[in-house]
Amino acid sequence: MPQHNTEKRTIPAIKKMKKRGEKISALTAYDFPTAQLLSNAGIDIILVGDSLGMVVQGRKNTLAVTIDHLVYHTSLVTRAEPISLVVSDMPYGSYHVSIEQTVENALRCVKEGGAEAVKVEGGNKRFPMIEALLDAEIPVMGHLGLTPQSVNSLGGFKVQGKLKQDALQLIDDALELERLGAFSIILESIPMELAKEVTERVSIPTIGIGAGIHCDGQILVFHDLMGYSRGYLPKFVRQYADINRIAGEAITHYIDDIQSQEFPGAEESYQLKKEISELLK
Ligand code: KIV
Repeated sequence: MPQHNTEKRTIPAIKKMKKRGEKISALTAYDFPTAQLLSNAGIDIILVGDSLGMVVQGRKNTLAVTIDHLVYHTSLVTRAEPISLVVSDMPYGSYHVSIEQTVENALRCVKEGGAEAVKVEGGNKRFPMIEALLDAEIPVMGHLGLTPQSVNSLGGFKVQGKLKQDALQLIDDALELERLGAFSIILESIPMELAKEVTERVSIPTIGIGAGIHCDGQILVFHDLMGYSRGYLPKFVRQYADINRIAGEAITHYIDDIQSQEFPGAEESYQLKKEISELLK
């Protein structure tokens, strides 16, 4: 019997969690079995993140991810019918060209992918697009601080909001996102004191990743939390499992069993009835 609340997480339910002081749990997922796992465990929000470019496609950043990739992976996640709210991450280039194209791309996430909301990175430059999405009845999650789609202009994946002017701009952007009607804001890689200030000033939930304990919720990339990533992990990741080791050991064991003819055994093989087997001799 699951211990957690099994009610479907809707946008109003997520917003109510902040009012009640309940912390929001979020994780990324990109496929059906992972979405089932997260839903069964009681995760509140599943983000189909463009981080799939790095952890699934093996790229060095998220820039090459397309709207087709996002729609496809969102459809795999929603096929699991998770209790979690499913948010599609609009990839780089899908909301930068025109308002019309932004809305068309987000509609694909909803209609073809089954997403219940979309996430858009960035502050004031993106507000016209965000307004248009909200006008089209598409709920929007904002994303401020380190916005990985700006990796080239930022000069790397660096902590943001450390200077007074940047911190004040981030607070303004968060207030404007709230005013426009975004239902939540991801705060990525910013000092915890700044995240606290934003969280206290806005009535919508803040979901932190590398933004400290005061956010209304936390999000991590599934592969990072599971120890299923390669290479460098940011300071803010806590690894809760070691899938690379467990899966690596299982695969080595399988290879050994093939070579020593331990696998397959009789219990993993099909057998003819004795009388038919006799006929083959
Ligand atoms: O793409 C992603 O996975 C993200 C977060 C982890 C916030 O944007």
